Amino acid sequence: MEIEGSRVLVTGASSGIGREAARAFAAAGAEVVAVARRAERLAALEAESAGAVSVITADLSEPGAAARVAERAGPVDVLVNGAGSETGGTVWAVGDRDEARRMFEVDWWSPLAMIAALVPGMRERRAGAVVNVTSIRQVLAWPSLGHSAAAKAALAQLTSTLRLELLDTGVSVIEVIPGPVDTPALGASMLLPGFVEVLDGMLGTGTAAELAELIVRAVRDEHERVFYPAVTVEHAYHRPMELRAAITDAVRERGRLPDELADTLVVGPDSPIIADAKAAWEHAR
Ligand SMILES: NC(=O)c1ccc[n+]([C@@H]2O[C@H](COP(=O)([O-])OP(=O)(O)OC[C@H]3O[C@@H](n4cnc5c(N)ncnc54)[C@H](OP(=O)(O)O)[C@@H]3O)[C@@H](O)[C@H]2O)c1
Repeated sequence: MEIEGSRVLVTGASSGIGREAARAFAAAGAEVVAVARRAERLAALEAESAGAVSVITADLSEPGAAARVAERAGPVDVLVNGAGSETGGTVWAVGDRDEARRMFEVDWWSPLAMIAALVPGMRERRAGAVVNVTSIRQVLAWPSLGHSAAAKAALAQLTSTLRLELLDTGVSVIEVIPGPVDTPALGASMLLPGFVEVLDGMLGTGTAAELAELIVRAVRDEHERVFYPAVTVEHAYHRPMELRAAITDAVRERGRLPDELADTLVVGPDSPIIADAKAAWEHAR
């Protein structure tokens, strides 16, 4: 589809992949609506964009917020569901706690609310694109990441279904499947002993700017999926068993949560532990 002159809504536009995607769509001539919580970062993006970017500040962990954003944004040609949050802790410690529910609100319910609000208009105009950013985590397990992997797996499944439902309607559906990408989220992943080293070692690490270019190209050329870093993540997606075996070995050696934390440690999306890890990543850059 034609990017120039299109209206693109990007969630998670204050940082990392979403921010670079907002920049790349603006550079390709789109009118971008950038969504996230941190107003000052969105304002900086708007200021550098020479009028191409407008902003909506919203906390997508609040039920109803995504639908309100979609309504304010008006007709949208390209929806990029890029916002993502984190929850850490064993499956039984996190359970169905509020922290997990807030994470699912951002990673799962908000993309669904956006799709519900915006796809009917795309179908009516017989043009548009939905871009869902999932993760290679959809085919992998790692201790403490169960909820996060499950949210991404659910969104991946939904994306494939949506693509079939929108077949031949003029609306394309693109799944972006990142492995490690050098953003603040990687700083948070470093809290998990062994995780980044193992995945980095097997998949490599990419940059948000390069991935953003691939996202714009995928929308323009109507690709179904973007694997990134391309060859390694695509291989893991199609044949995850090798990576799973390596993960089991790595977890045995160094990835176990200390016994005394297994029942109690819950790190929610708003935890200072995550904020500090992300800030440390940013400081190091
Ligand atoms: N980096 C990786 O290695 C990697 C790998 C696989 C998948 N991914 C996925 O890629 C996507 C982008 O992640 P990233 O690496 O670019 O991370 P990031 O730099 O930490 O960016 C996350 C973005 O999500 C927004 N967000 C988080 N919680 C929000 C909330 N409650 N309301 C509104 N916006 C919220 C953040 O904005 P505010 O904090 O300003 O609200 C920020 O703009 C995520 O879906 C992530 O799961 C990343």
